[in-house]
Amino acid sequence: MSKPTEKKGAVQTTGHAWDGDLQEYNNPLPRWWLWGFYATVVFAVVYWLMYPAWPVGNTFTKGFNTITFEVDGEERTTHWNTRALLVRDMQSSPSAVRQREFLEQIAAASYEEILTDADKISFVRSYAHGIFGDFCAACHQVGGAGIVGLYPNLANDDWLWGGTVERIEETLIQGRLGYMPSYRETLSADQMNDVAVYVLSIAGYEGGDADAIGRGDRIFHGAEGGCFQCHNVGGVGRTSQGAPNLTNNIWQIIDVPNAADHDARVELVKSVLRNGIQRQMPAFADRLSPIEIKVLTAYVHQLGGGQ
Ligand code: HEC
Ligand code: HEC
Repeated sequence: MSKPTEKKGAVQTTGHAWDGDLQEYNNPLPRWWLWGFYATVVFAVVYWLMYPAWPVGNTFTKGFNTITFEVDGEERTTHWNTRALLVRDMQSSPSAVRQREFLEQIAAASYEEILTDADKISFVRSYAHGIFGDFCAACHQVGGAGIVGLYPNLANDDWLWGGTVERIEETLIQGRLGYMPSYRETLSADQMNDVAVYVLSIAGYEGGDADAIGRGDRIFHGAEGGCFQCHNVGGVGRTSQGAPNLTNNIWQIIDVPNAADHDARVELVKSVLRNGIQRQMPAFADRLSPIEIKVLTAYVHQLGGGQ
């Protein structure tokens, strides 16, 4: 056995020898590496102090760094976290900024300005489409076509409550109750038949004898029926009552145009007289912001080609 070799000028050893000749070089870490290591330690400590880091019980150390973002127009500052960062990015992204600018313009503009400006109306269409989908389409259907008998069609130019922007806005804010009484107790079967034949005649349907139409006219415009009080003289409708125009062959409640023949049409009208109508458009004053109501009003107005 020879003595552990001590290469002259070579690497130092730690001086220990195991198993006779097993030695350990004493290679100090390179300086650059060591400083790099210290730097990462310092970085980690600073990071723990600045950002959410360590679990503590059922919470965690939140760090000193903060983030400020906007909620409903109010600035809010909280400890830094990725959710708030996302919210802030969504608010300050170019498209979000553009949307906010448009909403400010819409808020400041009159309906006339909105409806005659191509940029504003195309913004209204895309922005309202989402709100309409969330709040209205469940009843009025995507695109506003409605369901005959249940929910009115908003995409035609026939209005129960009026198609001016003022009336549409009022409809959205306060809701509407469409009500027509049942005539089950007030009119006899013959009288119902007469007035139904009259209603079909003013809508442009032929059939039914002239005498019956004459009797129906008198019921419609007289005390027995009193229909004119809501549907107006001649049945042209009255938006203050939400009572439809009966003369234009656009039907809200009954699907007259698809009925098989005149008898079937008469039966449909009589079913309305027997059952009456009661249906409710909910109020949205406390579910939508004023600007959302404004955008939706302009949207619904241009859907129906408004008045
Ligand atoms: C729960 C179902 C329901 C929802 C949701 C609903 N509506 Fe209605 N809406 C109705 C009914 C029912 C009527 C008809 C009321 C009547 O018979 O007079 C109506 C009527 C209307 C009218 C009047 C139409 C006319 O001819 O005058 C407008 C405008 C309207 N809704 C727009 C909207 C908008 C916009 C929304 C979404 C913010 C909405 N509705 C959400 C059920 C609904
Ligand atoms: C108190 C007011 C009122 C009176 C009175 C009234 N109606 Fe109506 N009528 C309405 C309203 C409101 C509607 C639509 C309800 C709705 O859309 O929710 C309606 C709907 C109808 C419809 C369905 C129209 C459609 O588009 O599908 C017919 C038909 C009709 N009325 C006929 C009559 C006749 C005939 C009389 C008289 C015997 C009469 N109404 C009396 C308020 C009235």
